[in-house]
Amino acid sequence: MEIEKIALQMLTSGKGILAADESTGTMTKRLDSVKVSSTEENRLGFRETLFTSNKVGSYVSGVILYDETIKQKSSNGDTIPELLNKQNILPGIKVDAGTKPLDGSPDELYTDGLTGLTERLKEYYNLGARFTKWRAVYKISKDHPSQNAITNNAKSLAKYAALVQEANMVPIVEPEVLMDGDHDINRCFEVTSAVLKECFQELKNEKVKMEGIVLKPNMILNGADSGLKNDPAIVAAKTLECLKTNVPKEVPGIAFLSGGQSELEATINLNEINKINDTKLIFTFSYGRALQQGALKQWAKNIHDKKAAQSVFSHRAYMNSLAATGSWKQDKEVLS
Ligand code: 13P
Repeated sequence: MEIEKIALQMLTSGKGILAADESTGTMTKRLDSVKVSSTEENRLGFRETLFTSNKVGSYVSGVILYDETIKQKSSNGDTIPELLNKQNILPGIKVDAGTKPLDGSPDELYTDGLTGLTERLKEYYNLGARFTKWRAVYKISKDHPSQNAITNNAKSLAKYAALVQEANMVPIVEPEVLMDGDHDINRCFEVTSAVLKECFQELKNEKVKMEGIVLKPNMILNGADSGLKNDPAIVAAKTLECLKTNVPKEVPGIAFLSGGQSELEATINLNEINKINDTKLIFTFSYGRALQQGALKQWAKNIHDKKAAQSVFSHRAYMNSLAATGSWKQDKEVLS
């Protein structure tokens, strides 16, 4: 399939992406938090529980996998990509190699992973992946992000995206301005604008086809330590303004990260954005924590009771599916 078509399939109306690509270290932290031991079997067990939930293919167009998971077999003998394909869900894969301190500004992070990327992309394509993810992170403080962080992360995001398109897959381009910090929403707007501007400049320099990417940005929010509440109408207006200004018209759509918002906040804010969307851009979700938190807590009560965790996950995915078309309402939150 052409990459433009894959991108549009990822952005199918009323569907979004499940980010289940936590590295083993991050997944271990998540499992520790609910007192389940992080064995290979348990990591697969939880993820397979999500991937086989009722109607998951109606709410989710793609799942981002981690290296371990894309190579695992499900309990019926299918590989995980086969299991997803049978439900009309596109398999995706995280291909960055995580972050390290940035040269010249060691308080900030640089995302690694370009070495050997072409070979890994071939392997992942053969395993069934049709899209990929690379996440750069930017912290906000009085002196951050530095221009060094903005420039160097944009350059590697763009090089990654070009290599992925050459390998016939869609790159999710994820520049995440972190929520941590005591800054207000206007500072988040200003930093996110600068980050996006630089990313698209570098993507153009690398001749990346804009029609064949999906952008995965943060929403525009007050810092988590600011003590300020986020008004969904203001979050939506500022997020839409920032993306309208900085994203080229050829980009088909946006799949937001949740970034530490609660499950409900992430749904409400996406819904508000879609209610006021006056552009051709498609706005959907590519959530990790905001899709999995409740399901993980439920699953941890009894890891053999898949049904209970699946009903929590299906409900959350359904709520976000409604938010992806601006048709979520508070009264739909009641779990039937
Ligand atoms: P969160 O939605 O938990 O922020 O995760 C999304 C993601 O893929 C981070 O890279």
